[in-house]
Amino acid sequence: MCGIVGYVGSSPAGTFLIDGLRRLEYRGYDSSGIAVISDNGVAVNRAVGRIDNLVDSLGSEPPQGGTGIGHTRWATHGPPTEANAHPHRGGNGEVTLVHNGVIENFQPLRDELIGKGYTFQSSTDSEVIAHLIAEALGQLEEDEAEPDNRYVAAVQQAISRLRGTYGLAVLFDDCPDMLIAARFGSPLVVGVGRGEHFVASDASPLAGHTDRIVYLADHQLAVLRAGSLTVLHRDSGKIRPDIQLLETETEQVTLDGFDHYMLKEIYEQPVAIRNAMRGRLDDQNATAIFGGLNLTPQQLRSVDRIILTGCGTSWHSALVGEYLLEEFARIPVEVEYASELRYRNPPIDPGTLVFGITQSGETADTLAALVETKRKGHRTLAINNVVGSSIAQAADGGVYLHAGPEIGVASTKAYTSQCCTLAMLALYFGRLRHLSYEAGQTYIKNLRLLPAAVEQSLSCDVQVRQIAEKYQSASTFLYLGRQYNFPTALEGALKLKEISYIHAEGYPAAEMKHGPIALVDTDTPSVFIVPRGTTYEKVIANMEEVKARGGPIIAVTCQANPAIDDLADDVIRVPAIPEYLQPIVSVVPLQLLAYHVALLRGCDVDKPRNLAKSVTVE
Ligand code: F6R
Repeated sequence: MCGIVGYVGSSPAGTFLIDGLRRLEYRGYDSSGIAVISDNGVAVNRAVGRIDNLVDSLGSEPPQGGTGIGHTRWATHGPPTEANAHPHRGGNGEVTLVHNGVIENFQPLRDELIGKGYTFQSSTDSEVIAHLIAEALGQLEEDEAEPDNRYVAAVQQAISRLRGTYGLAVLFDDCPDMLIAARFGSPLVVGVGRGEHFVASDASPLAGHTDRIVYLADHQLAVLRAGSLTVLHRDSGKIRPDIQLLETETEQVTLDGFDHYMLKEIYEQPVAIRNAMRGRLDDQNATAIFGGLNLTPQQLRSVDRIILTGCGTSWHSALVGEYLLEEFARIPVEVEYASELRYRNPPIDPGTLVFGITQSGETADTLAALVETKRKGHRTLAINNVVGSSIAQAADGGVYLHAGPEIGVASTKAYTSQCCTLAMLALYFGRLRHLSYEAGQTYIKNLRLLPAAVEQSLSCDVQVRQIAEKYQSASTFLYLGRQYNFPTALEGALKLKEISYIHAEGYPAAEMKHGPIALVDTDTPSVFIVPRGTTYEKVIANMEEVKARGGPIIAVTCQANPAIDDLADDVIRVPAIPEYLQPIVSVVPLQLLAYHVALLRGCDVDKPRNLAKSVTVE
């Protein structure tokens, strides 16, 4: 996983590198490091943990120089130690590099290099690349007419031996005014400035520095100097770089008085949902409008199956989407983990449309699943929050969430915006097919209730904090819901476990008696999502079963019901809204519960251990 940055120009490289790494910290925060070339050679600084630790380690005298590379790491091979932090050096230090990706054949390469006398300082897969480049460099003749050729050839020789994925930025000790970037499977963008060039894992570090960018494609390599940029393809040699205008939103993200980004983002949900719907509800035609699907209504009308794919929380929103699309558009939907879909070979009919759902647009498995289905000739669309992200570019078209930057690692506002977007897509597809004008109008009316309902559900915050105090020491939680709120149960459980490190299981409530009920005891709280709707009484019966076994019950419901009051130890009320939109409202207290439990347990809410905001390795 990891994020990489690079700079070559006349400004101090260190400033851009540190700022860029902060913007890429969502890709991992196990360790970070920079390398800067100055007259005194290459200075490498690395630190375990957050970028702040790296900044502290630099002290008052950050390394000087106009060429440098940087890295923020999410550990794959080797623990998060300083030795395993990037940049890594190859040979006798003549090559320095940062790497994002995974080298699958690193072990035989490492053994081979050790056999040749190379000494490894780390247990990472990345270090082999540095030694391979150094080895190739040592074997190549200087090319006096084209001195860069030797460095390019060394990188090309080294990467030709790699199996896996890489985004690389490489510095050479004896060529202090150049850096080489190369990509296969891990995103890399080059920023074209005036008398300076930048490279980064995504465009966010470039915002404010340049608005001209080149998205490197697989098998491309870029030679960056202050005044020149050369792009080469493995097979076709030199190519003309395709310079595009940077579309990344550059808004400055601050806590705005909140203690954590997660809490701020929970509270931003009414606005985020409004933004997701803005300009997309068409009262006149009782449908939704989507500008970027890049498919004609005729093509969309002929869709006879939909696959929704994603990971984690985005996969949960896909489950909500499945219920919505099947009920309102009458289109069969399958929800696939992207990590499974990418390696599966399911029969997919020509009329199938594949949606990749992703907050970041950078999740490696979701990207690969879309690319694979697109390669097979299927139409792919993205539901994505980050403009210009890798998945937005890879898909044939899509829908932006417009939820604004989500910084907390635990996804909150992106989830509810995804559900809301899927609800609008269900309306849109429904109106292309079977849904009547009147039904469309009612649907729009109900969608418009959402922001206020979510706003109102936030008022349970103080009560949820008290519930969190009561149960903060539990070692297991069960989350149970049915139908539209089965995904809510999964999402509530995921939120709790990822930020509080408490084991939690989400289940369809009726499924509980087929196994998980064995977990019920007086110390194991069960959170029931029981707003109302088709299975309301049935879920209440499931609550009885837990109560009969002495399990504490927290109920999320929306209407006064003495049966629930009797059964539950704590009742959280959220506003009532039609059943199919209820998950967007019911999830709010569960987000808050996870937040308060994590806080009470002293956990790092915004940056939980072992996680990263965006999972850019498979
Ligand atoms: C959980 C969470 C993750 C992400 C998952 C996919 O709170 O945030 O489970 O949902 O890593 O990320 P995106 O949506 O960026 O593809």
